[in-house]
Amino acid sequence: MIPITKPVFDKSEERLVAKVLQSGWVTQGPKVAEFENLICEYTGAKYAVATTSATTALFLSLHLLGIDPADEVIVPSFSFIATSNVAVHVGATPIFADIDPRTYNIDPTQIERLITKKTRAIIPVDQIGLPADMDKILKIAKKYKLHVVEDAACALGSVYKGRKIGSFGDLACLSFHPRKTITTGEGGMILTNNKTWAEKLRILRHQGMSISDVARHKSNKIIQESYPVIGYNFRMSDLQAAVGVAQMAKLPKILVRRASLAERYNKAFNNSDIIIPPYVPENYVTNWQSYMVRLVPNKKITRNELMQRLLDDGISTRLGIMAAHLEPAYTKTMGKIFLPVTEKATKETMILPLYFQMTKLEQDYVIKQILQHVKS
Ligand SMILES: Cc1ncc(COP(=O)(O)O)c(C=O)c1O
Repeated sequence: MIPITKPVFDKSEERLVAKVLQSGWVTQGPKVAEFENLICEYTGAKYAVATTSATTALFLSLHLLGIDPADEVIVPSFSFIATSNVAVHVGATPIFADIDPRTYNIDPTQIERLITKKTRAIIPVDQIGLPADMDKILKIAKKYKLHVVEDAACALGSVYKGRKIGSFGDLACLSFHPRKTITTGEGGMILTNNKTWAEKLRILRHQGMSISDVARHKSNKIIQESYPVIGYNFRMSDLQAAVGVAQMAKLPKILVRRASLAERYNKAFNNSDIIIPPYVPENYVTNWQSYMVRLVPNKKITRNELMQRLLDDGISTRLGIMAAHLEPAYTKTMGKIFLPVTEKATKETMILPLYFQMTKLEQDYVIKQILQHVKS
């Protein structure tokens, strides 16, 4: 069976996790700090705050900004449902925007018409690793005094106009779920250039406690901590961070390999009139977190039939990105919303296998089967 993805682990993760176990310090501690520093160095963001997932990172960012039940947050519907859920988690209303039909990212021209007196923030998503059009989004945000919390869950390693993802907007959130370029099993991180926010986020993720466990542990005087705010337990463990530190050493070669596999897919599908490969605008670099194609509606085969035939051939694929506004969780409360570009894209797209260890033989088989099925 050819899987959709595979994490890239070797002895280095095992060694670092073993060291953490031997140290006896397994909760959030020095390894989390080391992982945060590596992500700062890599992305150019000044501060990084690790969390348990991108979902908790996004939630904490909105909470930090004081987004509340009176507020609206503009989000693309064409995203994993966590993007809009986090607005609901802080009691706000997600306002769904349509996407650009080529990049599949939020369409900046749609954002402006959705802005009301209640709008407080925009959550652009770098969908499957392709950066959102941050220049245009930040310009709109500045004009209307809105916050920008970038959902960069998929985008570690991607580059927008010469700058790595993670250093735009007010806050950017990463995910380390196994479908991402590097993984810690589960995990997330908030990136920001704002020192005060970073300090508040560290307190919020740690039950609102005024002092970190490491600082208390190192002190030779007894310390009475205080709890200035109501916080959460969103701590990443040092075991997870050890995996992250080992993964960071591999990130450059993971990106090179993913790009070369994506290029092979592009070449194979460039002349097809049924399989449309992804579009990457000039001056954008994607990390190819996923390789998503569009199947042009045709008389020979539907997208779901193609996915089933590939599964029968031993090839895993996944539906393209969901449309959150069509899910019962939202239709129940928000009624019918029409987003034509999103609805078409969610029906016509599918994700193909792409992983570091994928051999040319495996990829050639995937390509051959797809081209054969769409022809016959
Ligand atoms: C765009 C986007 N946002 C948020 C998330 C949530 O990430 P996590 O699983 O780390 O909470 C995902 C996960 O797939 C995602 O793709």
